[in-house]
Amino acid sequence: MALELTGQLGVLRERVAEWRRQGDPVALVPTMGNLHAGHLTLVREARRSAARVVVSIFVNPLQFGPAEDFAAYPRTLERDRALLEGESVDLLFAPAVETVYPRGRANQTRVEVRGISDILCGASRPGHFAGVATVVCKLFNMVQPDLALFGEKDFQQLLVIRLMTEDLSLPVDIRGVATVREPDGLAMSSRNAYLTGEERALAPRLYQGLVRSAERLRAGMGAGEAEHVATRELAGAGFDVDYVAVRRSRDLDPPGPADTALVVLAAARLGRARLIDNLRVDLAAPR
Ligand code: PAF
Repeated sequence: MALELTGQLGVLRERVAEWRRQGDPVALVPTMGNLHAGHLTLVREARRSAARVVVSIFVNPLQFGPAEDFAAYPRTLERDRALLEGESVDLLFAPAVETVYPRGRANQTRVEVRGISDILCGASRPGHFAGVATVVCKLFNMVQPDLALFGEKDFQQLLVIRLMTEDLSLPVDIRGVATVREPDGLAMSSRNAYLTGEERALAPRLYQGLVRSAERLRAGMGAGEAEHVATRELAGAGFDVDYVAVRRSRDLDPPGPADTALVVLAAARLGRARLIDNLRVDLAAPR
């Protein structure tokens, strides 16, 4: 069956109500479009988990800072639609800004997940995670899915969404899906399109830095030193490093001596592109 595309909330609600009457579980894959293999992995996982799949495409102005790339963010709806045609998605929901924020952005009620929203990427992008939490909360209320899937590349975002769902008692199962990488290790991202040829050749070093950091931690190096060494290496390679941080994977707090479930996270700029990536490290796992 042909993929149905709508930007209208009424149509979305009618379809979902019909599926509910039939007893079909509904999965939501929220995206900002410009779809790549990472998104399609989420869609396939959604397909395996629920009878009905909704993909949303909405470039959310609320999560971009004033000096960020909202206007330039790639909008490729026709191409995205064609990609999803081959994935047995039931509905593509692509609302206009006015549908999502009818009272305007300034007046929009915001959802703020305290604490975790202000560290790491939240420290360099003030208001970003409130924008994410607000739009995801709205999408959950619009679609009313049983489950929603998000990529683990945006590790902090995934935790923000999990906490928001828990704090607001939303009946949605949040599923994280492993990062999809290019053959050279670069995490797939719509923003990779901003890289020049030279920057693209350099970009996999971000992931390589994470892999080396994980090895150093396993070999007994302290978190602070591992962060310092990786930052120095990335800066030496030509990255403008925002942070390299070793944190507890469950809440992104700095690890104590007894913590073994860690994650190394990094954010760095290469030209126009701000790249983020992360790698989990289990110090209790046998080597
Ligand atoms: O990860 C993204 O693409 C966006 O932050 C999301 C979750 C779709 C919210 O706009």
